[in-house]
Amino acid sequence: MKTFKAGFLQFKPVHKDIKANLSLIEKYEKKISEADIIVLPELATTGYVFETKDELLPFAEELPVGPQSEFFFKLAKNTDTLIITGIAEKEGTKLFNTQAVFYPDGEFEKYRKIHLFYQEKNVFDMAYNEPRVIEYKDIRIGLMICFDWAFPEHARILMLKGAHILAHSSNLVLPGLGQAGMRIRSIENRVFSITANRFGEEMGFKFTGMSQIVSPGGEILTKANEDEETLKIVSINLEEAENKNITPLNNLKSDRRTELYKKLCHNDT
Ligand code: ACM
Repeated sequence: MKTFKAGFLQFKPVHKDIKANLSLIEKYEKKISEADIIVLPELATTGYVFETKDELLPFAEELPVGPQSEFFFKLAKNTDTLIITGIAEKEGTKLFNTQAVFYPDGEFEKYRKIHLFYQEKNVFDMAYNEPRVIEYKDIRIGLMICFDWAFPEHARILMLKGAHILAHSSNLVLPGLGQAGMRIRSIENRVFSITANRFGEEMGFKFTGMSQIVSPGGEILTKANEDEETLKIVSINLEEAENKNITPLNNLKSDRRTELYKKLCHNDT
């Protein structure tokens, strides 16, 4: 399939109230069914601010089993839509800030956030998965969670692994920076990007809304404002993301000078 519909749901999760958050998402079932892919914010079912592991543990879920996974599998099946959502994952005593992917046919994929932001380092365990690209109906989707935007290497690896779209589940707090950064990630990799952000405040953190979908040329195809609950969907043509030419003599993949980039792969100064 070369043309398909993708969107985001921007909302304000209720802190520590999974039931309320799943009910809100369920309210959009009919609209979700109009899209092939829907992206939800980071930690969409629990809210964001937890100070300790013990505080978050009761709200986290082993994936993909448990009531939150059951809800999303059912939603994906009922709507025939790929659902990509942020979720707090537990594995034994470990906690991960995870992006879970629920397929309409019951398949499941996940990516654990590798660039933890600020006090997330006190709550979540360090993940060791490489940036991941998943596939659905011939659409290749690169997975990213919020602060991953600040590491261009992450989006570049996803592009090199063949991603047409960056699915970016977010709880952005630095005003406008993540949205601007993702526009650049789209331009420099010639890929679509979908940033699904949240809005509202939680314990002193103000989230910036302004979810957006950006084309490979950097055009903002749709966006939400700073504090609206909304689901937006656009039509996407994959061929736009397959052409990496910037001019007849410039190609974003083949013009790279990898022999000069060795420093990127080392932490030494
Ligand atoms: C963030 O990574 N949630 C800012």
